[in-house]
Amino acid sequence: MNKLWINADQPVGTIDKHVYGHFSEHLGRCIYDGYWTGEKSSIPNTRGIRNDIVKALKKMGIPNLRWPGGCFADEYHWMDGIGPRNQRPKMINTHWGGVVENNHFGTHEFFDLCEQLGTEPYICGNVGSGTVQEMQQWVEYITFDGKSPMTDLRRKNGREKPWKIKFWGVGNENWGCGGSMRPEYYADNYRRYATYCRNFSGNQLFRIACGSWNDNYNWTDVLMRECYGRMQGLSYHFYCGSGKNSRSATQFEEIDWAWQLKTALQMDEFVARHSTVMDKYDPQASVPLVVDEWGAWHACEPGTNPGFLYQQNSIRDALVAGVTFNIFHKHCKRVRIANIAQTINVLQAVVLTEGKKMILTPTYHVFDMFQVHQDAAALNMAIESDNYVCQDVTVPAVSASASKDAAGKVHVSLCNLDADKAQEISGLVRGADGAKITGTVLTAPAINTCNTFDKPNAVKPQDFDGATLKAGKLTVKLPPRSVVVLEIA
Ligand code: AHR
Repeated sequence: MNKLWINADQPVGTIDKHVYGHFSEHLGRCIYDGYWTGEKSSIPNTRGIRNDIVKALKKMGIPNLRWPGGCFADEYHWMDGIGPRNQRPKMINTHWGGVVENNHFGTHEFFDLCEQLGTEPYICGNVGSGTVQEMQQWVEYITFDGKSPMTDLRRKNGREKPWKIKFWGVGNENWGCGGSMRPEYYADNYRRYATYCRNFSGNQLFRIACGSWNDNYNWTDVLMRECYGRMQGLSYHFYCGSGKNSRSATQFEEIDWAWQLKTALQMDEFVARHSTVMDKYDPQASVPLVVDEWGAWHACEPGTNPGFLYQQNSIRDALVAGVTFNIFHKHCKRVRIANIAQTINVLQAVVLTEGKKMILTPTYHVFDMFQVHQDAAALNMAIESDNYVCQDVTVPAVSASASKDAAGKVHVSLCNLDADKAQEISGLVRGADGAKITGTVLTAPAINTCNTFDKPNAVKPQDFDGATLKAGKLTVKLPPRSVVVLEIA
């Protein structure tokens, strides 16, 4: 029997809402055919941005949006994306399908999108193929309130007042697609570029250095050694692949399910070990680990452009999201910003589109259900889980986290990783006497059930009545392959 103890009167940190952030790149159909329809489209839009998508993302709670890449960021020249759209130069998107980018979605459109969404912008600047001057001028164009060549240009392009921006990435994956640099070389470049990313007109930048990936602890060590005190955040990327044998989002066996979740759970070890390296230089965790790319990476859907990374999304992806958030909550002192890759039509998307149609994926529903944790106090808790075993894969069957919001409501999120069996939990909740328990569950008939344009609601949240709480004694019966959020109020 699984056991769970929650001390509802013992907060251990804050779950920053920014761990529920998103990442949207000029890749495949994320921007074009995703957010951006253009003003003349028959799809209802506001200044070229799709209304149905804005509505859905706002409901789910999107605290920040990282843009324009990704690998694209290090070949993006922002000045190509301003001014009258029909005069903007075109470029080749060499990373993603070699398609022609018309630059119709640029700085002004991005800030308009952020304003429509009510989200904080997170821009990643170009270190790999850009210049210090180019990055300096971009910051000036966006944030300076005085008179200068860049602000004259901004005003000429229709924006009188500067925008505000906090999150600023200085390059992306500069160990790979962003310039194949060694950590020492990038660290020197970071220092140079970051120096010229100025705080104009009261705007305070939160400079995020390009960080490591997977288990490369040396990159983290060098960046902390050389740049600590000059950066406000250090990025980190981890993709948990697609299972053991099958790389398809929907055609897979139970062993792939188990393998996928085992790989997703590795985030816990990686975050812990990168944090330990950071602790050496920053024991107070003043510099967050910014997990600004994470998620599952399956094969593209048959018949789609392989450079577009369009994949379906099943209940397996919902479990990936659920366990990942529980891990972020556990590490809330160090992980304070994170961005799923990517919001629309790319990788582990929350929204898929087909012409006028739009569907919400199982991953969307996890974001929606878990938004109760945003800015809540993470609670002291412990879990003793039974194992879920599939062939040579053994993982804990249950993953959990708990938080208390400003109104005093306690939320417990639970994932049953077991593909076949229900899991019973017996628990104790201290410090929530007399409270009532309600819940929401996301599950599906099969391990690969997904929402399609024909059946958009095959996986959707339902009321959950499998939990009881009497005199602090909690019992929960989690259905197989499920994500549950309980509310104790
Ligand atoms: O999200 C897709 C790509 O994955 C990003 O462009 C890059 O940063 C990472 O390798």
